[in-house]
Amino acid sequence: MERIIQQTDSDAFASKLCAINYKYLPPTPCAITGTIDDDLQSLYQNIATLHIDYYHNLKEENRNVYGKINKLMRNPFPVMNYGTYLRTMAIDSSIINYINNELPLKETKFQIVNFGSGSDLRFIQYLEKFNKRISKFIDLDFKDAINLKKKILSKSNLLNQLVTKYNDQFIMLEGDLKDITTTMKQLVQNLDLTIPTIFITECVLCYMTQIDSQNLITKIMNNFQKGVWVSYDPIGGSNPNDKFGIIMKRNLLESRNLDMPTLLIYNSKSNYPDRWNLDNNNNSASIDIRDMWDFVSQSITDKEQKRLRSLQFLDEIEELKIMQSHYVILNTAWNI
Ligand SMILES: C[S@@+](CC[C@H](N)C(=O)[O-])C[C@H]1O[C@@H](n2cnc3c(N)ncnc32)[C@H](O)[C@@H]1O
Repeated sequence: MERIIQQTDSDAFASKLCAINYKYLPPTPCAITGTIDDDLQSLYQNIATLHIDYYHNLKEENRNVYGKINKLMRNPFPVMNYGTYLRTMAIDSSIINYINNELPLKETKFQIVNFGSGSDLRFIQYLEKFNKRISKFIDLDFKDAINLKKKILSKSNLLNQLVTKYNDQFIMLEGDLKDITTTMKQLVQNLDLTIPTIFITECVLCYMTQIDSQNLITKIMNNFQKGVWVSYDPIGGSNPNDKFGIIMKRNLLESRNLDMPTLLIYNSKSNYPDRWNLDNNNNSASIDIRDMWDFVSQSITDKEQKRLRSLQFLDEIEELKIMQSHYVILNTAWNI
């Protein structure tokens, strides 16, 4: 199962590359309301170069993944590209807003932990943008995923240079999030429990069981004095007539033998946050949750929506709406 779960990373990377290739990413200026635009723009300034470079170096390391990515790039679905854009924007605007609103003093140091980081290159984007303020940036994933990423990063002159530049700040940890004791031990060894810490789970908790993800969150919230958790996942849908989750779960099991154990448990905006709201979390947590269709209507400017629709022919707005209302972005802050 571990290998099957790990393979979902190539889908995530391929989708991002595809969204870059078709000019969904980076966003144009003034794309997102309520977010400081200069910050968002500078975060994305090298996104294409970084991802294309990673992709070229992936070829020699893993031909299977490379082939899979090529196939996806030849067959780009507008709905998928739109979704990748939204997912990326929702996560980054959440993080940027948190840094600007809650940690406004330039001297405030913070840490970032990207759980189930896969091939995500956010560590470079954030370290380039906030280098003096980030004391540590941790990527954590299964051993094989981290080894593959290390190899690719070391093969590329550009990426290797950047990793070396941030040698004291960037750490790649091999681990299994289900093994909470070891995960906590690794985090405690590498991080400061007293400074603000941003945790990211982008399409990761959906692959964990209810109890494993609850334990992870509880442990983190009880050990890190103050923090923020930004999480993005699919939700199955709570309306009895809504078959989205049932079909998604069945398709994944049949086509890949892949399970999403909590898709039908945390199936709505109202119960997805339950894991952060448990009585045994000693902290006062504030929770904000939106589905991605809320995010479109509340946060993407009309001008940007128009631009997105002009990139590829998108005749099925209803399909986009159904799909995006089955993905959520959650922001939780504790003791901030
Ligand atoms: C869909 S991919 C997402 C990758 C990345 N977060 C992104 O969105 O680009 C899911 C990632 O979570 C990792 N993952 C899932 N369960 C995990 C676990 N128990 N321990 C460590 N990593 C895990 C997988 O190996 C994979 O890299």
